[in-house]
Amino acid sequence: EKGGYPHFMLKEIFEQPRSILDSMRGRLIAESDHMMMGGIREFENKFVNAERIIIVACGTSWHAGLVAEYLIEDLARIPVEVEYASEFRYRNPIISERDIVIAISQSGETADTLAALELAKSKGATIFGICNVVGSSIARATDAGAYTHAGPEIGVASTKAFTAQVTVLSLIAMILGSKRGTLETTKLRQLMVELESIPAKVEKALELNDQIIAISEQYKDATNCLYLGRGYNFPVALEGALKLKEISYIHAEGYPAAEMKHGPIALIDAQMPVVVIATQDSSYEKIVSNIQEVKARKGKIIAVVTEGDTTIPAMADHVIEIPETSEHLVPLLSVIPLQLLSYHIAVMRGCNVDQPRNLAKSVTVE
Ligand code: F6R
Repeated sequence: EKGGYPHFMLKEIFEQPRSILDSMRGRLIAESDHMMMGGIREFENKFVNAERIIIVACGTSWHAGLVAEYLIEDLARIPVEVEYASEFRYRNPIISERDIVIAISQSGETADTLAALELAKSKGATIFGICNVVGSSIARATDAGAYTHAGPEIGVASTKAFTAQVTVLSLIAMILGSKRGTLETTKLRQLMVELESIPAKVEKALELNDQIIAISEQYKDATNCLYLGRGYNFPVALEGALKLKEISYIHAEGYPAAEMKHGPIALIDAQMPVVVIATQDSSYEKIVSNIQEVKARKGKIIAVVTEGDTTIPAMADHVIEIPETSEHLVPLLSVIPLQLLSYHIAVMRGCNVDQPRNLAKSVTVE
């Protein structure tokens, strides 16, 4: 059942080239300029004319929502708010019939996410679901939706569900950008080709496994770890930190890199590993200076960079190279080494990676 892997989590990490492909199957064929998503087509006018999109989710699915905020605002120019379902439902939020609420949930059973969408529905918003489990409660409660088709995710720590969610959300942002005329055709075509090439690039990123085992060996006894990213990699920093803390029980925090100087920088000393996601995108120069700030305080830098980077290797303690892609799609690649890092550290610490203490796969109570 684990397909020869010692844990479901590792199997699911390695399944990602396939699960990402499955999540775009029939929805994207770059060669023939084809992009289609049934649930969006059904509510096309509503989506295209939406004044605002509100995303509700919890945990890793909330991180996928944050990636979507960057994607949809940039490509489709619709304002997006990303809400923790638990906060949203209890704070008397402002919701109208002109809002679209996207609920993201792997299990489709998360109590807070379900309650948040029921609340939005009662105020007349259109509810769109992005779920992995077919026929789940959230999927049934929505007006329309798109399944992620990642296949069953058994490991409690979400991996392939996250990349499938981000794939579907990228497609949605591209479809909306194209329909609203905010995304020019050449850029759209480039993104379509690039998205299609992601499974092969994930395959390549998975070849980093041995290198990441060696890095994990050096940091398995850490008590704290900081994750930094900017732009599209900021949500990835949050996700990397969540993965590490939930399965290895090492205290980890994800931060937008520029926020470091507003507090967390006080934590940095020679004992502090800092994972920096520093791929070559519009925030590259800025994040290079954040790395220098950490090094000036003797922090240990584990940097995830774009293949061929020559600047960061001169500064970082460890460099993990991932294939080049558009910055819009980079989370699909940059998250892979972080999943592997938490997995190996947790295994080395003797943790039960598939069933971490105190956690359940579906959180059906609030
Ligand atoms: C993290 C994790 C949790 C879930 C969260 C939401 O690895 O698994 O944070 O992401 O409980 O679950 P779903 O997506 O099923 O609503």
